[in-house]
Amino acid sequence: MSATRTQVAIVGAGPAGLMLGHLLHLRGIDSVILENRSRDYVIERVRAGVLEQGTVDLMTATGLGERLRREGMRHDGIYIAFNGRRHHVDMAALTGGRAITIYGQNEVVKDLIDARVGTSRPLIFGVDQVMPSGFTGGRPSVSFQKDGDGFELSCDFIAGCDGFHGVCRTAIPPSQLQVYERDYPFGWLGILAHAAPSSNELVYSNHPRGFALFSMRSLQVTRLYLQCGPDEDVNDWSDDRIWSELQARLHTDDGWRPNEGAIIQKGVTGMRSFVAEPMRYGRLFLAGDAAHIVPPTGAKGLNLAMADVYRLAEAIAEPSTSRREDALNAYSDRGLRRTWRAQRFSWWMTSMLHRSDSGNAFDHRRQLAELDYLVSSRAAMTSLAENYVGVPFD
Ligand code: APR
Ligand code: PHB
Repeated sequence: MSATRTQVAIVGAGPAGLMLGHLLHLRGIDSVILENRSRDYVIERVRAGVLEQGTVDLMTATGLGERLRREGMRHDGIYIAFNGRRHHVDMAALTGGRAITIYGQNEVVKDLIDARVGTSRPLIFGVDQVMPSGFTGGRPSVSFQKDGDGFELSCDFIAGCDGFHGVCRTAIPPSQLQVYERDYPFGWLGILAHAAPSSNELVYSNHPRGFALFSMRSLQVTRLYLQCGPDEDVNDWSDDRIWSELQARLHTDDGWRPNEGAIIQKGVTGMRSFVAEPMRYGRLFLAGDAAHIVPPTGAKGLNLAMADVYRLAEAIAEPSTSRREDALNAYSDRGLRRTWRAQRFSWWMTSMLHRSDSGNAFDHRRQLAELDYLVSSRAAMTSLAENYVGVPFD
């Protein structure tokens, strides 16, 4: 084993790990980022693409705003559709000018990797057998293999940014973790299509045939989702079947409908809510999907990860020892407070907009009443707006 040392060992080069490395670099703090997949895999992984105001502000404030400003699409509102009509929610007007920006998660990852390479700080892809240890004592370290060679990376802190299926959360004794979870009885079939977006903002649709979402990636590429079975086989969905289902669920009485085009990517994702408490165990700190998963309906996953690492970097970089200890001790509680807010909002959006097979006619009418109240009450729309654009990072 070759021994090496850094201040913060970061496991995972997703948005959480990469942004943490970036924030620590800007504060002059060393880190090593370990990723078990290849660079191309991490970049090409198609995920969501809605950035809260706080994420946009963080990227802009830390020198990552240039391409985002050029290629990101600022949206001041969203549409909620049901009973054949689209209803606009002007989020910027309801939140004092805060908005969302459409910018693919893989674009964020690309910008962060470019920034990391620009610092010449270590970002190691293709590692294997990553194992955190010593984090309950004063000598945390992460061992890993790279090209058949073994390494022991000693550090002051370990950041578990390795996602839901990573090794960091599972390295914490189960007796020390409280887990909360809910699986939803449906999934999302998502597509990317070469089609010019026919709406200038997102459309969330509650429909008797099931939920559908109209989103986009650029003026040439539309991103669409439809509710499907939790274990749906994407091979059962021909392009024609996908388009006819999307048209059925999204078109509105005013003649609006999504433009069609060549489908360039399709996949099915499950829907779950998951929270692990606490988010810190000794000198091991969990951030992003390693600590919490939200269903994608509220577009919170990426933004929660960014809020976590902003808080963690601020704590680690705190110059005064006593205030640093206080900030590190508060990391988990403050993170969980934001996490549970996002869980509530994501569960609410999911329950209000999806068709549940276990639901009966009463449930469907109650959903419609909830939607009717939402689009006719400034108070209700303001609540949706402030949760959707996100509260400032703290
Ligand atoms: N060793 C090294 N790297 C690992 C390991 C391991 N044992 N296990 C997982 N990883 C890597 C994964 O390959 C992935 O690149 O950790 C990274 C975790 O990244 P994400 O799953 O993207 O999680 P996070 O950075 O927290 O970002 C959360 O991603 O899934 C979306 O909706 C989610 O938008 C949210 C965002
Ligand atoms: C997306 O554009 O991929 C997207 C948008 C809104 C969501 C989820 C995903 O709620």
